[in-house]
Amino acid sequence: MDINGASAIVTGGASGIGAAAARQLAARGARVVVADLQDERGQALADEIGGVFAHVDVTRTEEITAAVALAGEVAPLRAVVNSAGIGWAQRTIGRDGTLESAHSLEAFTKVVGINLIGTFDMVRQAATAMSRNEADADGCRGAIVNLASVAAFDGQIGQASYSASKGGVVGMTLPVARDLAAAGIRLNTVAPGLIDTPIYGEGPESEAFKAKLGESVLFPRRLGTPDELASMVLECLTNSYMNGEVVRVDGGIRMPPK
Ligand SMILES: NC(=O)c1ccc[n+]([C@@H]2O[C@H](COP(=O)([O-])OP(=O)(O)OC[C@H]3O[C@@H](n4cnc5c(N)ncnc54)[C@H](O)[C@@H]3O)[C@@H](O)[C@H]2O)c1
Repeated sequence: MDINGASAIVTGGASGIGAAAARQLAARGARVVVADLQDERGQALADEIGGVFAHVDVTRTEEITAAVALAGEVAPLRAVVNSAGIGWAQRTIGRDGTLESAHSLEAFTKVVGINLIGTFDMVRQAATAMSRNEADADGCRGAIVNLASVAAFDGQIGQASYSASKGGVVGMTLPVARDLAAAGIRLNTVAPGLIDTPIYGEGPESEAFKAKLGESVLFPRRLGTPDELASMVLECLTNSYMNGEVVRVDGGIRMPPK
C-alpha cells in the first residue's frame, strides 16, 4: 500500500516509538497528524516533518473525532498508528493484608482506558473514515497498527493492569481485522520488547536502569531503538499482505516473573 500523499495519524506521536513512526511515515511522503497530550513536543515534531499537531487525549472521544476530521482535511486518511500508552507497576495485593494496599482500581481503570479503550476508539473512528476512501488496485482503503507489548504474553510481577490492557490489544487484533476486511482495511499489532524511549524516564538513574534491562535481552544484548520498532510498524502498514497479525519485536527476550 502506497502512503505517499496520504494522511496518517500517530497517537502518542510526540515521543518514543510514535515519534519515530511519524518521522518514517513523513519520509515516505505521508502527511502526519501528530496526536498527543504533549503540545510543545508534538507541535515541534509536526513542524519538523511538515505535519500537523492535534491535541488528543485518547480517552476523550471528541478529541479523536476532531483529529480524524483534521487528517481528512489534509489528505485521505490511509494510515493510523496507535502508540499512545502508559505503564503502571503495582502488585495485585499488598503485603500487609489490608485492602488499602491492594492494587488501585482507579489506576487499573486508567491504564485500560488509555491503552485499550483509547486504542479501540481511534480504530473505530479512523476506520469509519477510511471506509469512505477510494480503494487502491488491491482493494485496500487503509491500514492500522496498534502497539501492544511483550507484557501481553510474559507479564511480570506488578504488571496486572498493563498486561491486561496490552492483552486486550492483542486479543482484538484478529476480530477487528476480520471486521475491517469487508472495507479493505488491514490491522496488525506490533508487540515491542524493551525499547529505549522516555517511557523509562530520563536522567542518569534511568540510564543505569535501562543498561541493566538490556542485559536480559537474548540478542543483541541491549534495548531496542524507536527506529527499529517504527521500521516494523511501517512494514505492517505498507505490506499489503500483512493482516490480522501480532508481531513481537524484542531481540528474542522472554520476560521472567520479575
Ligand atoms: N518503550 C518500551 O519499552 C515499550 C515496550 C512495550 C510496549 N511499549 C508501548 O509502545 C507505545 C509507545 O511507547 P513509548 O515507549 O514510545 O512511550 P513514550 O512515553 O515515549 O510515548 C508515549 C506517548 O503517549 C502519549 N500519551 C500518553 N497518554 C496519552 C493519552 N491519554 N492520549 C494521548 N497520548 C497519550 C505520551 O504523551 C507520549 O508522548 C506504548 O503504547 C507503550 O505501552 C513500549
